Amino acid sequence: MKTLDVTAYGGVEVLQVVDRDDPPPVEGRVRVRMHAAAVNPADCRIRQGLMAARTPDLQLPFVLGFDVAGVLLDGAAGLVEGQRVVGMIPWFADPGHGSNAQVVTVDPTWLAPLPDQVAWEIAGSFPLNSLTASQALELGALEPGQTLFVTGASGAVGAFAVQLATAHGVRVLATASAGDEDFVAGLGAQVITRTEAASMLTAVKEFAAEGVDALFDAAAIGGPILPAVKDGGAFVAPAAPAAPPTERGVQVSAVQSRPDAALLARLAGEIAAGSLVSRVADFVPLDQARSAHEQTQAGGLRGKLVLDLSHGR
Ligand SMILES: NC(=O)c1ccc[n+]([C@@H]2O[C@H](COP(=O)([O-])OP(=O)(O)OC[C@H]3O[C@@H](n4cnc5c(N)ncnc54)[C@H](OP(=O)(O)O)[C@@H]3O)[C@@H](O)[C@H]2O)c1
Repeated sequence: MKTLDVTAYGGVEVLQVVDRDDPPPVEGRVRVRMHAAAVNPADCRIRQGLMAARTPDLQLPFVLGFDVAGVLLDGAAGLVEGQRVVGMIPWFADPGHGSNAQVVTVDPTWLAPLPDQVAWEIAGSFPLNSLTASQALELGALEPGQTLFVTGASGAVGAFAVQLATAHGVRVLATASAGDEDFVAGLGAQVITRTEAASMLTAVKEFAAEGVDALFDAAAIGGPILPAVKDGGAFVAPAAPAAPPTERGVQVSAVQSRPDAALLARLAGEIAAGSLVSRVADFVPLDQARSAHEQTQAGGLRGKLVLDLSHGR
């Protein structure tokens, strides 16, 4: 099998496609023959060494990748050999053993069945980011009719948050990148074009005079956008370092995504039904991983770049 190794912390040149033996069966784990895995911003930051403080024991070379989409090579409780599955690897809990490989060995509780009608590139694009959005909304604890402001809704996590919240009856205002307003509006949000924080705050006050009940800051703007939340409301950051100090009784928290097979099965069902949309910018062979990292790091993508792990098997 091929793996995408990170051979050192650094630029995209540290990524190397390497041939290895397929892994043997392991008690309590299952092997997945991988088809697809997205490149996410965290992969780029890990590769650059920007998150090394979280993984002091990580050995080189290591393998990135949170998203699993493939076919089971082993059975487990509720899962049968040959079944299509999706999953999320909690990469930071067991760093270095990610999904950028043609066969991965994972805990079966990280996996959910994948309906037949979901294409591999879509399957590889949604597990981490839809789970993160859903778990972020749990922190906001909104009821139907309440208000939510989502920053970065042209991105994957923000777009999922908009869709999941509007489906729950929440009134959503969201920022779209310039030129992407129609896409974000189509997800059910009232849209403002991304601009500097002061102008976005004016738009929020027109949407909800006292401020919104909750804000999910998928764009990681932090403190400058906190005044958008009403007194005593909720502010959810996409990561702990992006969480500003609290003020006015606002409950500030940071989402930390975690595997949840039942939730992922529901999300996969919504993707299959077309009620949840996951955008893919391109589905590229593993030997284009360096370019996929460069583009992901640069920003401005409309959808995820997804690695095609079946290519060249
Ligand atoms: N805690 C967790 O477990 C977890 C899990 C997954 C993701 N995350 C984090 O969640 C965040 C979003 O992830 P993602 O995969 O959705 O990233 P993404 O696809 O790159 O989306 C980020 C979006 O934010 C937009 N943006 C950037 N700066 C902005 C600003 N100042 N104002 C308004 N919009 C802005 C970007 O627009 P342009 O592309 O046009 O610049 C992009 O559309 C990242 O920080 C990621 O690391 C956390």
